[in-house]
Amino acid sequence: MSDLPVEPAVPEPTPTGFALTPFDQTFQRDPYPVLHKVRAGAPAQWDEMTHGWLVTTHDEVREILRDKAFWSDPRKADPDSLIARFQLAGDQAPSMLFLDDPDHRRLRSLVNKAFTPKAVETMRPRIAAIANELLDAIEDTEFDLMDRIAAPLPVIVIAEMLGIDARQQDDFKTWSNAVVSAFFNVMRSAEEAEIAANAQAALDVCFRKAISSCRATPGQDLISAMVQATEGGDSMNDDEIVMQCNLLLIAGNVTTTDLIGNGMRALLEHPNELAKLRVRPDLLENAVEEMLRYDSPVIGSGRIANRPVEVHGCPVHPKQSIGVSLAAANRDPSVYPDPDRFDIERADTHHQSFGGGRHFCLGAPLARAEAQETIRAVLDRYPVPLPAPGEARYRAIPGFRGLTEYRIRTRA
Ligand code: HEM
Repeated sequence: MSDLPVEPAVPEPTPTGFALTPFDQTFQRDPYPVLHKVRAGAPAQWDEMTHGWLVTTHDEVREILRDKAFWSDPRKADPDSLIARFQLAGDQAPSMLFLDDPDHRRLRSLVNKAFTPKAVETMRPRIAAIANELLDAIEDTEFDLMDRIAAPLPVIVIAEMLGIDARQQDDFKTWSNAVVSAFFNVMRSAEEAEIAANAQAALDVCFRKAISSCRATPGQDLISAMVQATEGGDSMNDDEIVMQCNLLLIAGNVTTTDLIGNGMRALLEHPNELAKLRVRPDLLENAVEEMLRYDSPVIGSGRIANRPVEVHGCPVHPKQSIGVSLAAANRDPSVYPDPDRFDIERADTHHQSFGGGRHFCLGAPLARAEAQETIRAVLDRYPVPLPAPGEARYRAIPGFRGLTEYRIRTRA
């Protein structure tokens, strides 16, 4: 053996930029090993592609989301950052997601009531009935869970909540799908963009028609509630109501679809957990929280620094964007023992999947109820659902994680 000097190992660079988006195949298939590397190597790192910081540790993600002084309005961000270029579909006014107080507080408090846990509980029987109606229509013993149940269910629920005329609900679903998929797809073709613009215009007409009929004869629906809502002598004009309706479609539909898909996939690929749930249906609530932690539909959010701060020793300057990886936070080994294990009995299933602080997901109780009732309905109907052979494929939408298709077999 010769005594050649040993070259010092060159540390591998931590993944950044493109490698942390679903346009990268490795990340798209399974982002968690990549995120473990980032968290271990650079828990806060500068990302040249987004021209902003990225934070991956649980406690710091939690703290950043809950910092009430940080901003969410992209117009306040460093103009070179990706977030500053983030535009809503068309030239609409920003929704509450991208506003700071006092505008944010005002808009949120005007719709808040419809989404409280108590309000959602009254909708639970109807959500279960919709899930069962969708299942009744399936005759095949192998079908795509996304197409037949996970995608249509949240759209039907929100259409009913808004009070959209039942005769228009099929069109509503088509328009809503076109708008949502183009909104999230930064690689959209000119043709897709045109289809989405036409669908957006049709939705706009549909919402305005509903608003004017609710102004004339208010009902029990959410558009009537928005028309009548007043907060401190303030009320919403038609443009604001239309914008809120669009936000509910965009923020609420794909995300809930993906919770049902990612959650069912986790369950079916862990037969022991599925068996446990069959024996103990009372574990369903905890199981859905574990699904949210284990494979969140939204994997990133962020804030804009309003002052100089330090995160893991990195100097963050005012106006710089701070991206937070919800997916990395949810698998932080310093908080979750054995974080990559899917365990529906996990004692502490708290997670960052709904964000936090002022912008904590308004639809969280609704999303939970929709996932619980859908999963319950599927398991009640099929004693042994199995994943059909084939690789699960995910959509390529940065910040989100959801299956394009998930085929299941209802008989072995
Ligand atoms: C599993 C499904 C869902 C997930 C994972 C999810 C996740 C999120 C996240 C991460 C945020 C940003 C929070 C932050 O930055 O602190 C958010 C905001 C929001 N979500 Fe959800 N969401 C889901 C379903 C829904 C549903 C069903 C609705 C309503 C129909 C909804 C409406 C909203 C709204 C309006 C906001 C903006 C809140 C604000 O800015 O104050 N979401 N959601």
